Amino acid sequence: MTHADIDFGQLYRTHMAAADGREKPPEEWDARAEAMGRMVGESRYVDDFIARMDLSGCATLLDVGCGTGAIALALAPRLQRVVGLDYSQGMLDVMMRNARALGHANVVPIRRAWEDDWRDVPACDIVTASRSTMVMDMAEALARLDAKANRRVYLTSLVGGRFIDAEVAALLDHTRPALPDYIYIVNILYRMGRHPRLDYIENDNRLAGTEDFDAFARKVAFSLGEIDDAGRARLKQWYEADPERARRGGAPFRWAFIHWETAP
Ligand SMILES: C[S@@+](CC[C@H](N)C(=O)[O-])C[C@H]1O[C@@H](n2cnc3c(N)ncnc32)[C@H](O)[C@@H]1O
Repeated sequence: MTHADIDFGQLYRTHMAAADGREKPPEEWDARAEAMGRMVGESRYVDDFIARMDLSGCATLLDVGCGTGAIALALAPRLQRVVGLDYSQGMLDVMMRNARALGHANVVPIRRAWEDDWRDVPACDIVTASRSTMVMDMAEALARLDAKANRRVYLTSLVGGRFIDAEVAALLDHTRPALPDYIYIVNILYRMGRHPRLDYIENDNRLAGTEDFDAFARKVAFSLGEIDDAGRARLKQWYEADPERARRGGAPFRWAFIHWETAP
């Protein structure tokens, strides 16, 4: 068997099913929109994302899974038109409110899912998908991004397939297999005849920055659900064994930053 015999799109779908990956309903994202719109401390990730982009020769952007517009709004002053696509009306509402507050009149919302009909979604010079690539069918998603980009596509994807340190999750008997990560994307793009470039953006992990064990336990419970007494005791032992590791919330979190050119 050689690399050419492997259907990486199928392999991704099989991995996603084995990891019990599920599409969230848009209402779950609606509920998070107000809090996400206020997350100003996230700007380091946004700065790192944008610093890696080449906007030369580009006037329009399509931001897929735009959320409250972290990427779209940051780029709006440098482009003629910015289109934010998301299936959560709550996210689009917060993005548009923030766009008005910032005085950006060139931001256009489109309420749409990855899986919907995209025939009327405009092609743009640049297409981005930032932290929004947890899709069930990656080959289809990449084909859509590629088809809508006149010049370049930029996306981020999980490294390692977990949002929470695996060791911390295991302490609470959360032994779910890791989700499929960026390495499928590189292989699918290769099979599409594209030449993806790869970089990494390091971010605080979701459990980082707590002042004490109670705050840490609250963050863990928010991500993994209620913690019983035995789990809490194991977690406390882990927390107190290495205060520096505890402050970081375990292993650092990395996004793979992948980009490619669509124009010859
Ligand atoms: C983690 S947020 C990322 C938001 C923004 N791109 C950023 O980097 O801050 C993921 C976004 O993807 C959207 N999303 C999730 N599944 C989607 C789907 N199937 N179709 C369209 N949008 C989706 C969510 O509503 C949410 O706004």
